[in-house]
Amino acid sequence: MSKETIVVIGAGVIGLSTALCIQQHLTPTQSILLVARDFPSETSVNYASPWAGAHYRPVPGSSPQALREADQAQRTYEFLKRTAAAEPGTGIKFIEGVEHLEAPPPEYLDQQSVRNVYSHLDKFQILGKEEVPAGVVWGVKYGTYVINSPVYCAHLLRKFVLNGGETRQYTLANLKEAFSMAGNVKTVVNCSGSGFEDPKSFIIRGQTCLVRNPVTKTITRQNTDGSWSFCIPRPLEGGTIIGGTKEPNNWDPNPSLETRQRLLANATKWFPFTSESGGQFDVIRDIVGRRPAREGGLCIEAEQLAGDRYIVHGYGAGGRGFELSRGVAEDVVAVMLEKRLLQAKASL
Ligand SMILES: Cc1cc2nc3c(=O)[nH]c(=O)nc-3n(C[C@H](O)[C@H](O)[C@H](O)COP(=O)(O)OP(=O)(O)OC[C@H]3O[C@@H](n4cnc5c(N)ncnc54)[C@H](O)[C@@H]3O)c2cc1C
Ligand SMILES: *[C@@H]1O[C@H](CO)[C@@H](O)[C@H](O)[C@H]1NC(C)=O
Ligand SMILES: *[C@@H]1O[C@H](CO)[C@@H](O)[C@H](O)[C@H]1NC(C)=O
Repeated sequence: MSKETIVVIGAGVIGLSTALCIQQHLTPTQSILLVARDFPSETSVNYASPWAGAHYRPVPGSSPQALREADQAQRTYEFLKRTAAAEPGTGIKFIEGVEHLEAPPPEYLDQQSVRNVYSHLDKFQILGKEEVPAGVVWGVKYGTYVINSPVYCAHLLRKFVLNGGETRQYTLANLKEAFSMAGNVKTVVNCSGSGFEDPKSFIIRGQTCLVRNPVTKTITRQNTDGSWSFCIPRPLEGGTIIGGTKEPNNWDPNPSLETRQRLLANATKWFPFTSESGGQFDVIRDIVGRRPAREGGLCIEAEQLAGDRYIVHGYGAGGRGFELSRGVAEDVVAVMLEKRLLQAKASL
């Protein structure tokens, strides 16, 4: 019998994180192949990962999705803290995060749901009235991280390859095709982001602007009309992301100049860019990305097919793929262990 190959579809932050977690459990008779249309050097509008800010901002709430994500986010925070300390050059940096909300939704006013998602953060503080700018009703600050997303994805890919993982650039027309990518495939892991077969999947368009101007914190401001403005410095001299729009089901691949101007005008008002920029921005590029969202949140489950084959799903991370990545990867692996598609191993 030839060696069994586990196929992971997708080289976004979810597929890469999951593939690395799977590698920790491979037996000598198993190997792993990562198949994807886009790899971290690509810049396609349908490949969300390189376009992410990316920062971590907790989201309070008490729905099953909110609670599950809070737990995944917490595990990811601890994981990234360890990674940042152990491996410089991965594009992760811990800095101060600030939030200013003008019209906080009810879950922000419920102390318990706020504590559930924020209290694990270093130096978490609720800001008093005198500490927030005019118009802001709710404010917090805490220690969080920012990620240079293309750098971090390239790091994950390099690690996967150094661990013996194989890759293949290929566009799958059909999930069943994935079972033919190697000689003996029993398990396919579906981390394809935003597909078209699941009626619950949809995209949320995001337009942001990458500028050279530096900032030292990541600040998020919610406007009265419910829109969000944020600045996210990208570690390793990657500039600053100024955002951003959230437009469900908008498939326009082109950046709007008008949106860029409004994003930058808001950023001048609210974010502490150093005075030498004089209110002027040094624009590197406009960004348009599609967040792979799903009603009810991520799909993480195993689907049994004929002939004892399995598809294990891990897609639909929406606007939180980076901040949930490690938790999601661990949860996908937990499903695989439960179905005995992998074997539990004492961690080294
Ligand atoms: C503007 C913007 C800002 C964002 N900011 C943040 C942030 O601050 N924090 C945060 O956590 N997240 C943020 N996100 C969200 C984040 O980018 C996504 O949640 C994350 O990238 C999703 O990762 P993924 O691996 O699921 O999907 P993707 O990165 O889209 O990867 C999907 C993979 O599947 C492959 N694939 C798909 N179909 C096929 C096929 N048929 N055959 C072969 N391969 C296929 C693709 O080629 C790709 O490799 C932001 C997103 C945008 C657009
Ligand atoms: C794989 O994931 C996509 C979402 O990216 C989904 O639309 C599709 O239905 C999944 N494939 C199968 C066979 O379930
Ligand atoms: C800019 O801020 C205003 C509120 O002052 C808001 O209505 C608008 O949506 C913001 N624009 C963008 C593109 O974020």
